[in-house]
Formats: sequence, structure tokens, C-alpha cells
Amino acid sequence: MNIAAIPRSRPAPKARWFVPTGLILLSLVPILAGTFRLTQLAGGQVTPDNARFFDSPLPVLIHIPTVTLYLVLGAFQFVPPLRRGKRGRASWHKVAGRILAPTGLLAALSGLWMAVFYDLPPLDGPLLLVLRLVFGSAMVAFIILGFIAVRRRNYVRHSEWMFRAYAIGIAQGTIVVVTLPWIALVGPVTELSRALLIGASWVLSLAVTEYFIHRRARGPAPEGQTLRDGAAGPELPAIT
Ligand code: HEM
Repeated sequence: MNIAAIPRSRPAPKARWFVPTGLILLSLVPILAGTFRLTQLAGGQVTPDNARFFDSPLPVLIHIPTVTLYLVLGAFQFVPPLRRGKRGRASWHKVAGRILAPTGLLAALSGLWMAVFYDLPPLDGPLLLVLRLVFGSAMVAFIILGFIAVRRRNYVRHSEWMFRAYAIGIAQGTIVVVTLPWIALVGPVTELSRALLIGASWVLSLAVTEYFIHRRARGPAPEGQTLRDGAAGPELPAIT
């Protein structure tokens, strides 16, 4: 029996919003931290803690608006009905995707720029620098691979690469989720534990994404669609 032909039970309308709501909640802390940093930069108060941002403001002025837009707009790409277009009109998913790909690239590239050229603040060491270079470069590579896949009309691969890129971005929110219990149970972070916790957030976020990608690949497709490579259709199989 071809399990791909089994009609897939669609999530209830309310359940469809769980994922984007959770993603936006996770984004809140880094977005608020970024807003605070931009306000500080606008206010002109230079301190030893923020001097690096004043010395070279361009990357941080690119980074904070692009990461904010990427995380918030990207969260809505997980709502299946928004992926469907009306006849003759581009879907929300397509329009948002055209904004998200360059925004995500600018977010990651400006992060890499700061990682390479900013002086390391007291709790950031060489290990964190290496992790930022690895995961920041991976985010760039995943967005490019997702773009190449969609140009080849391979929508399944496209969504997988874009989910992975988003996982690297949303890990900035996961950092709070892993760091707060650490501080409560172990105590203040050190240079090493901070790097390991940030690295763990990236690994955790990518592991959860791989789990959903794997589960989706094994599961039944929506009625009339299969999950083979290159499968095209108005609605991508939902990751929810
Ligand atoms: C897309 C999700 C991301 C969000 C929400 C985010 C958020 C932020 C925020 C709010 C800041 C300002 C920190 C402060 O004011 O002290 C910042 C700085 C920075 N980000 Fe990101 N970021 C993201 C992605 C990345 C990536 C992928 C990299 C990897 C290279 C990166 C590297 C950096 C670096 C190096 C800094 C400067 C850190 C410092 O000198 O204190 N970011 N990010």
C-alpha cells in the first residue's frame, strides 16, 4: 500500500498557529536586546561595554533590523494555509520568501562581520568565535542551498534547507531557554560555559529541525501529493 496516498489529517486551525506563536515568543528576548542596543546607539552613551558598537556601527545597524525581520516574518512561513496562493496570485509564502532570503543572508553576514572584526567582549572567547564562524557560515550556505533548490522547483529540499537556516537564527532565542536553568542550577556563566551553552542552543535547534524534517519525510503526504524530491504543488506538506 502506498502510504503517500493516505489523506493526511490537517492540524486544527488553532493548532496551525502554535508553531509561529512559539517561534515569535522565542524571538522576543534577542529582539528586545537588539532594540535596547539600537536605543543605546541612538542615545550616544559610550561605555567600555558598548564601545565596539560605536567604533563600527554599520554591521550592528544591519544586524539587528535584519535578524528581527527574519525571525518574525520567518515564523509565518510555518503556517500551511499561507503557503497556498490564489489562482494567478503569488502566495504569502512566496512574497515573504523573496524578502526572507536576502534578509537572512544580511543577518548572517553582518553577524560574521562583527564576529571577525569586533574586539571580543570579556565573556566571549575564541571557542565562541569559532562556533559563530561555523554556524553563521552554515546559515549562509543553507539559505543559498534553499534558493538553488527552489530555482530547480525542488520544493521539498527548498523547505528543508530554509528550515535549517531558520533553526540557526531561532537558536538565539533558545540560548535564554538553556542559559537560565544553567544559571539557576550551576551559577554564573564563564567564558567556556557561555560558549558551550550557545553552541548547545545551535545544536539543539538543528536537532529538533532534523527530527521534524525526518518525521515529515516518513509521514503521509497531503492528498494527491507525494514527498519525493522535486514534488511540486500549491501546498507544501506541513511541518506542524
Ligand atoms: C538570526 C538570529 C540572530 C539574532 C536574533 C541575533 C541577535 C543579536 C543581537 C540582539 C545582538 C546585539 C547584542 C548586544 O547588543 O550585545 C547581536 C550581536 C551579534 N551577533 Fe547576532 N543574532 C542573530 C544571528 C547571528 C548569527 C548567525 C551570528 C553568527 C555569526 C551572529 C553574530 C553576532 C555577533 C558576533 C554579534 C556581536 C556580539 C558582541 O560583540 O557582543 N548573530 N546579535
